[in-house]
Amino acid sequence: MGSQAYTSSFASIYDDIMKRVPYYYWYKYLKHLLVYYEKDPKNILELACGTGNMLKYFVDKSDLLYGVDSSEDMLAITKNKLSSYEHLKLYNTNMQDIFNYGDFDFIYSVFDSVNYIHSYEKLLDVFKNAYLNLKQDGIFIFDINTIYRLSEIKEGTRKVNGDDYTCFWKDIVKSESREWIVELEIYFENKEEDNTFSERHVEKGYQLRDIEAGLFEVGFKHVDFYKSFTFKKGRAKNNRVHFVALKNEYVNRYLKRELIKLKWNLLRPFISNI
Ligand SMILES: C[S@@+](CC[C@H](N)C(=O)[O-])C[C@H]1O[C@@H](n2cnc3c(N)ncnc32)[C@H](O)[C@@H]1O
Repeated sequence: MGSQAYTSSFASIYDDIMKRVPYYYWYKYLKHLLVYYEKDPKNILELACGTGNMLKYFVDKSDLLYGVDSSEDMLAITKNKLSSYEHLKLYNTNMQDIFNYGDFDFIYSVFDSVNYIHSYEKLLDVFKNAYLNLKQDGIFIFDINTIYRLSEIKEGTRKVNGDDYTCFWKDIVKSESREWIVELEIYFENKEEDNTFSERHVEKGYQLRDIEAGLFEVGFKHVDFYKSFTFKKGRAKNNRVHFVALKNEYVNRYLKRELIKLKWNLLRPFISNI
């Protein structure tokens, strides 16, 4: 079993496997969070951008857009999709290695990419990167699978059939180490030789209070976390939680913010399946 994740084989079928993921809904939620915190970012960086499924929504609304990912093969797909945008820069970078790409208004990461960081120390390095690369009034948002969600995954193997591939997807849960492991075996039908590929993905869960403490530790002044796609405080028993971290102190404009929450709650049912 190969130990690398997001190699060219999986990258080539990623969008097909994820075709039911409601990225547009996720994007609209991010936008509502930004309005809620009174941000209108123009310089944006995505950590673990993958094949660019979220970048594509920000690309027309930004002056500068950076996508960072540790998989060259995932980035190659993004590059193909968004090649016409000169203000989009893609970096084959590990988000847990300290980097300094500039001053951004907004840094985000979606689809539990942060769970791919396997130690708390390294998680803090990811947070440091976000802190270092943000302007003083910048905002950092990411989602994460909770320990609860990882522990609730049913172990077993299922088959995903594509037009020219079959993917055996095996879920393994290691409750003690709070890990969810996915072992993939991918068979490509139209390749005569070397048509079988395997890879292994490991997601690690963290306590919400440790994540919050880590964000404060690297310097963020204000941290909120929500049950994903709501404005309700996140709880250990939620499946996914969105964290919001601000470099500046938070200014509470109660009425304005209540209106944004109301707008999101009204809009949500209409876009959740787009
Ligand atoms: C579940 S995919 C999500 C991709 C994209 N954010 C999306 O929403 O489709 C996880 C992504 O995280 C990237 N990744 C995992 N560990 C990483 C790391 N340490 N640094 C940068 N990217 C990483 C993978 O290459 C992959 O593209």
